Amino acid sequence: MEVYSEKQHIGKIIDELKAKELSLGLVPTMGALHEGHLELVKKALIENDKVVVSIFVNPTQFDNENDLKKYPRTLQNDVELLKTVSDKHILVYAPTVDDIYEGNTVSQSFEFDGLEFEMEGKFRHGHFDGVGTIVKRFFDIIKPHKAYFGEKDFQQLAIIKKLVEKHNIPVTIVGCKIHREANGLAMSSRNTRLKPEYRKAAPFIYKTLKSAKEKFGTKSAIKVSEWVEKQFAKHDLLELEYFIIADAETLKPVKRKSIKKAYRAFIAVYADDIRLIDNIALN
Ligand code: PAF
Repeated sequence: MEVYSEKQHIGKIIDELKAKELSLGLVPTMGALHEGHLELVKKALIENDKVVVSIFVNPTQFDNENDLKKYPRTLQNDVELLKTVSDKHILVYAPTVDDIYEGNTVSQSFEFDGLEFEMEGKFRHGHFDGVGTIVKRFFDIIKPHKAYFGEKDFQQLAIIKKLVEKHNIPVTIVGCKIHREANGLAMSSRNTRLKPEYRKAAPFIYKTLKSAKEKFGTKSAIKVSEWVEKQFAKHDLLELEYFIIADAETLKPVKRKSIKKAYRAFIAVYADDIRLIDNIALN
């Protein structure tokens, strides 16, 4: 499996693949790959001749220096894991910060029709400008036919669809279901950093989301939110940052339920200094 660290180099290979009219999928990641990433890669391999997996911890999407510093970096292990899926059809692009940002590590400013101001946008300053910048750059370099993103970052997925629409980028965005551990915890590269007692506690997040979904059948969004807040207030280890029931399309918080709309509950929780997010479709 080839690992490319320079855009010129991978760009040349991509031109050759395109000249042969091969279809190309992209799975953008920040590495520390887990089963959830591998599911995206497997889906991409079914739908494309070749798949580029980018592995890059993007500094401009972090608003917390410590989080960036501590983000797991496990390139060798990631490559070995990808080989178990396919040695022949995957190309890895693991650039340096300089290869991507060319000495100017800043984000572009984007406008995502208000999607960027909700939830993660409120709590992680500049995060979506950073995500928009790196994903757009990957689309420019790799020129994939399809790109794959997990629904765990549901707001990110909505924002990337908006990016593609607004900038007329010729790529199909494919959203993939959240991959969970047997105990319900959404798979995340950050899970590897959880201390044992927090790892044991973390499935409480999904358990609460499932109960919230059940309650939303008969109760208002406010009542369900109050109930969730109480559950976390009683919890010794997990600290709730936000729980929001929102319109699945606009991501605006629900004021009054309508049977015509799709809703989703979104949650962000601190387990010690590790921030975990999750979400669930409510109807
Ligand atoms: O979801 C992620 O891992 C990152 O936000 C992404 C899409 C790879 C951009 O850095």
